[in-house]
Amino acid sequence: MASAFRIIIVGGGIAGLATAIALRSLNRKIIVLEQSSFNREIGATISLQPNASKIVERTWDLSRLLHEKGSMMDEGFQVYSLDGELQFRIPLSTTEKYGAERMLYHRVDLHDALKERATSDKWPGEPAQLHVSSRVTHCDCEDGVVYTESGQTFQSDLIIGADGIKSVVRDSILGTKVPALRTGHSAYRMILPVYKLLTECKAFCDVVDPTASYTTMIMAHNRRMIMGPARNGSVYSIVAMVPDEGINEDASNTSWTTHGDIKKMRETFADFPEWARSPLSLVADGEVGLWQLRDIDPLPTWTKGRAILVGDAGHAMLPTQGQGASQAIEDAEAVGAFYADIASTIAGKKAPSFEQIKTINEKIFACRYQRATTIQQYSRQAAKPATEEESAKIKMSPSEFMDYNCNYNGALEWAREQEKNQEKDVEVSVIGREVKAGAQEVSV
Ligand SMILES: Cc1cc2nc3c(=O)[nH]c(=O)nc-3n(C[C@H](O)[C@H](O)[C@H](O)COP(=O)(O)OP(=O)(O)OC[C@H]3O[C@@H](n4cnc5c(N)ncnc54)[C@H](O)[C@@H]3O)c2cc1C
Ligand SMILES: *[C@@H]1O[C@H](CO)[C@@H](O)[C@H](O)[C@H]1NC(C)=O
Ligand SMILES: *[C@@H]1O[C@H](CO)[C@@H](O)[C@H](O)[C@H]1NC(C)=O
Ligand SMILES: *[C@@H]1O[C@H](CO)[C@@H](O)[C@H](O)[C@H]1NC(C)=O
Repeated sequence: MASAFRIIIVGGGIAGLATAIALRSLNRKIIVLEQSSFNREIGATISLQPNASKIVERTWDLSRLLHEKGSMMDEGFQVYSLDGELQFRIPLSTTEKYGAERMLYHRVDLHDALKERATSDKWPGEPAQLHVSSRVTHCDCEDGVVYTESGQTFQSDLIIGADGIKSVVRDSILGTKVPALRTGHSAYRMILPVYKLLTECKAFCDVVDPTASYTTMIMAHNRRMIMGPARNGSVYSIVAMVPDEGINEDASNTSWTTHGDIKKMRETFADFPEWARSPLSLVADGEVGLWQLRDIDPLPTWTKGRAILVGDAGHAMLPTQGQGASQAIEDAEAVGAFYADIASTIAGKKAPSFEQIKTINEKIFACRYQRATTIQQYSRQAAKPATEEESAKIKMSPSEFMDYNCNYNGALEWAREQEKNQEKDVEVSVIGREVKAGAQEVSV
């Protein structure tokens, strides 16, 4: 039996596994090539915006599995100043307005759930095969061949580049290397047991209730702590963002598993009042991650021939809006939706032609580019310290941006809306660093 549609997904992160889920179907042979052996990364939480959480929880049926792992609704967003004053609090029960909730997960839990959903035979469609310790070096976008470091080659009809910010599939698509740009910020990341916070950081807990299902930010001039609970409120995640020049250690390592030095972290936050920095003393050596934040400029294209990029490979963005994973999930849904017809029209008899694949990939790019790029630029904008704000033009207020984020009904409806809006001055300029999307304008 000639197996029908051969798909290679490069990268087994959130984008790669989500795309495997969206594409899995009868008569499709999906292989995910992942360079790592999936060792435990340093803990962190991850949030999904309502539209993405709906795809994951309902469309892909992962709500029960994630609930068992302790998934939580994010009930709102609040900002405190260094002296412990509440600046603002926005309750964000989004069900009524956006039809789903913002969700908080432990990253490992979301990743595990997606992996199970992509590779288990408990769901319909041929399960995807996951090959770990398989590092891809490059691919041929016309012939559909993917090459690994160990000398294996994989012949495919469709190549999904889900290999993150340092994507090699992107190099093959563009014929050139795209630098990950230093953004001038680094972040320490850690996860603390809530019982420890409650007993050992009372002054902190008097201000911020770590058991409440809120995303909390403590904002100082040029640094901030972004925090939130996970696993049914038993753990609390802290991301402490600092300008690179303010950090007391070498932050040149971009791996998720790079360790930060606790002593140096505490020196970095020495000018924070005791209540705010006390949680930073709770963490043990080896439990702090250090991450230099990088993003990329908007790319001229995400696709060539049989290959297309999804997730950070196509539009790596800063974590300021907690949108990276949501955009990866939306990409995956788009790939699934645009390829859905292929499964039914060929009914497993033969793989789609080169021309079919190329055309569909171009449609996916056209559908997703403007939205992902606008959110990417907004995330970069939001990282700027307050003093630079006057020079930065941003015409979306946070609540307009929330609407923009959340008024998304899946790729096909978005594409129809785009067509309708074609006459209306919708323009995304790639080379200039200015993105115009109808009324919104974000310049960087
Ligand atoms: C501090 C921080 C906090 C964040 N918080 C949030 C949040 O709250 N919400 C949110 O939505 N996003 C958040 N993000 C962003 C989010 O983590 C990413 O946008 C998202 O995970 C994108 O996933 P990805 O699969 O595209 O890329 P990655 O997660 O980078 O996955 C790429 C995968 O490909 C593999 N790979 C790479 N190269 C190769 C190769 N050559 N061959 C084979 N495999 C390869 C890698 O090992 C990896 O498994 C945060 C990021 C940071 C830094
Ligand atoms: C989280 O709580 C739910 C019940 O609300 C429970 O079913 C689940 O087992 C809990 N999971 C964890 C990891 O605590
Ligand atoms: C996204 O939000 C819109 C706006 O409320 C909602 O109508 C829609 O159902 C959501 N889309 C998805 C895919 O969940
Ligand atoms: C980055 O950190 C990883 C994991 O800690 C380590 O293996 C690697 O050698 C480091 N790379 C650099 C350039 O320091």
